[in-house]
Amino acid sequence: MKVQVAIIGAGPAGLLLGQLLHNAGIETIILEQRSQEYVLGRIRAGLLEQGTCELLRRAGVGARLDREGLVHDGVELSILGRRFRIDLKQLAGKHVVIYGQTEVTKDLMDARAKSGAKIVYEAEEVTPSGFDSASPKVSYRKDGKEHTVSCDFIAGCDGFHGISRQSVPDGAIRTYERLYHFGWLGILSDTPPVSEELIYVHHERGFALCTMRSRTRSRLYLQVPLSEDIADWSDAHFWDELKRRLDPQTAAQLVTGPSIEKSIAPLRSFVAEPMRFGRLFLAGDAAHIVPPTGAKGLNLAASDVHYLSEALISWYAEKSGQALDAYSARALARVWKAERFSWSMTKLLHQFPDEGAFGRKMQEAELEYLATSKAAQTALAENYVGLPY
Ligand code: APR
Ligand code: PHB
Repeated sequence: MKVQVAIIGAGPAGLLLGQLLHNAGIETIILEQRSQEYVLGRIRAGLLEQGTCELLRRAGVGARLDREGLVHDGVELSILGRRFRIDLKQLAGKHVVIYGQTEVTKDLMDARAKSGAKIVYEAEEVTPSGFDSASPKVSYRKDGKEHTVSCDFIAGCDGFHGISRQSVPDGAIRTYERLYHFGWLGILSDTPPVSEELIYVHHERGFALCTMRSRTRSRLYLQVPLSEDIADWSDAHFWDELKRRLDPQTAAQLVTGPSIEKSIAPLRSFVAEPMRFGRLFLAGDAAHIVPPTGAKGLNLAASDVHYLSEALISWYAEKSGQALDAYSARALARVWKAERFSWSMTKLLHQFPDEGAFGRKMQEAELEYLATSKAAQTALAENYVGLPY
């Protein structure tokens, strides 16, 4: 089989790239190792930058997002028992939208199915090769049969554990990594959100976040040690601990209920440089990971895909490789700024016992500054709503 672009991975990055290229008349195939149900069953983040929403609309998948997404003009912080609001709209001129990654994925899968463009789920042993030549290939097995796809370019959109980055020779890639000593214990519950907007909580017992998927479904997170066993966290224990970290007024308004999902996720910062190896291009989690504190993971995947789709479209339209040559540097410039923001939000809001009493005082002083300085709030707002593409 021959296509113009072979895309590995049907997460948001691969599906969105597939949609933008298909709309531009470029023939693609998407190869995904999991089943469609499995991909749709993954619970991930749910906050979209305005720029991500615009990109989804441009890809033709914005209708349900515009109907069901919750527009937030601000975000709240609860610092050692005191709540204050950062007015994103006023300070940065943009809003953010609550709309689950699962819903984004579903809309993109529906659009793919409707377009008739090729997508293979449960593709085993997907293997990219020859990307240092003009005729790369991707082989895979499906239902016991071997297949080979010849293509002009390969897009590695296969997430942090994917095969694309692993296929690059060691000497050609440099990686940067920071692991944190804690994780986020998250639950999903069909209870109304405790507040209209998100509340990021800094508390001596640890960080917490009250977010949502809709007006009737809450998503809540607690900072926990990585050694924590999920079996030790009954729903009652979770709600109890969350209440202890909230300010009294918010705690009193919290509606509790049974969890419908519960999991612990580690926090990691990671970047691989460059994001291009001959005719293989990485996008999304395949190239970088951020801790979820700034809600940047999905939004960075979207900006990578924006740059990559533009570059591929200009290659086919103008037979110019200039934009493809610039892809890695353009994407990484935005990636590093989002890495910095996600790391700084993580450092600001979590408990780091290893940093000692001085570290704690520095954190409190920075939070106090943020609570009272328009300049500090503007810097947070500008990054939170998403830096321009
Ligand atoms: N072959 C084929 N597909 C693969 C392979 C492989 N060897 N390895 C992984 N995949 C698939 C995964 O099953 C997954 O569906 O690639 C897809 C990658 O999707 P994501 O992990 O969602 O990554 P991405 O599309 O870059 O989206 C980034 O999603 O996970 C969040 O935090 C992340 O919000 C960010 C966003
Ligand atoms: C979420 O809704 O799951 C969410 C929102 C904001 C974050 C992280 C996660 O910073």
